[in-house]
Amino acid sequence: MPPACPAPLSRRLSVAPMMDCTDRHARYLLRLISRHTLLYTEMVTAQALLRGDADYLIGYSPVEHPLALQLGGSDPAQLAQAARIGADFGYDEINLNVGCPSDRVQSGRFGACLMAEPALVGDCVAAMQAAVSVPVTVKCRIGIDRSDRDEDLFDFVETVAAAGCRQFAVHARKAWLDGLSPRENRQIPPLRYDTVYRLKRLRPEIEIVINGGINDMGQALAHLEHVDGVMIGRAAYHAPWLLATADRIIFGAVTPTPVRSAVLESYLDYVARQHTLGAPLSALTRPLLGLFQGQPGARAWRRDLSTPTRGVRDLNHVIAAAQHVLGASEAAD
Ligand SMILES: Cc1cc2nc3c(=O)[nH]c(=O)nc-3n(C[C@H](O)[C@H](O)[C@H](O)COP(=O)(O)O)c2cc1C
Repeated sequence: MPPACPAPLSRRLSVAPMMDCTDRHARYLLRLISRHTLLYTEMVTAQALLRGDADYLIGYSPVEHPLALQLGGSDPAQLAQAARIGADFGYDEINLNVGCPSDRVQSGRFGACLMAEPALVGDCVAAMQAAVSVPVTVKCRIGIDRSDRDEDLFDFVETVAAAGCRQFAVHARKAWLDGLSPRENRQIPPLRYDTVYRLKRLRPEIEIVINGGINDMGQALAHLEHVDGVMIGRAAYHAPWLLATADRIIFGAVTPTPVRSAVLESYLDYVARQHTLGAPLSALTRPLLGLFQGQPGARAWRRDLSTPTRGVRDLNHVIAAAQHVLGASEAAD
């Protein structure tokens, strides 16, 4: 695997870790759209990584850098070992999940329920940091259950920062661990951006990335007036083209804005290569479903691409036909 990307790693814009969404194929597509946006893997539990096939679980394409691995767990020794594997694979950052509210995750005593155990999170971070030289970061909520005052978040960050963590991504919603499903926990608790802004004002030396409900570059820029970085989740998965202006607008790069048909062509080359290596076509085409989101013909594109195909050649026919329908929107890029 290639070495991690040269420092400094910018977190001004990132795409959030999302199970069943930010797999290596989706990340490859996102990277074709934005060169500089930091990408996160889906969460991988430390236990799975220690017991399983690491290549299968966290293997990636070199072009995906800058790239962060998100781990789940609460055993400092296991997390340290898993972080080391991630660092050996060349990841640029190792992130600890302290924000996921699912029951499965709670029963394993990790994810958002760890916000109630800041000292343990600190121990985990310290053990991981001792094992790797890349940054170890934490992704958390603004609170859980009845521990949802601003001060509860500040105390949590205080303890974890004292253990050495210098970067936090904060989903600006609390999580109700008892009563709401993970999906509801991403929609029902109100967004409280002010709490995250206050955290940044209180601890200016800590890098604070804000997450939750951010849908375009204009909103991202507005948040950047208050915090160091913006993390976009669902919007980037469902409408990846929103990242097309990110390099220019967020990172100040002078590279030309990408063209959708060229991105599609490069991604189809990748599909052919990956399919030869055994990746299923359905997994390879899934990231493409939202590529034309918001354009005339986007619904037909999704429908046509959702139809099972018998091979790469068949897929290329389907895409060529669907692209024809989308001719007008491509010209509008
Ligand atoms: C399908 C899905 C899977 C997710 N999986 C993870 C995960 O593995 N780790 C994590 O920290 N957050 C996970 N999240 C939460 C997102 O990272 C993010 O915090 C949340 O969606 C809010 O950001 P958004 O409003 O921009 O989508 C997931 C969200 C979705 C929609």
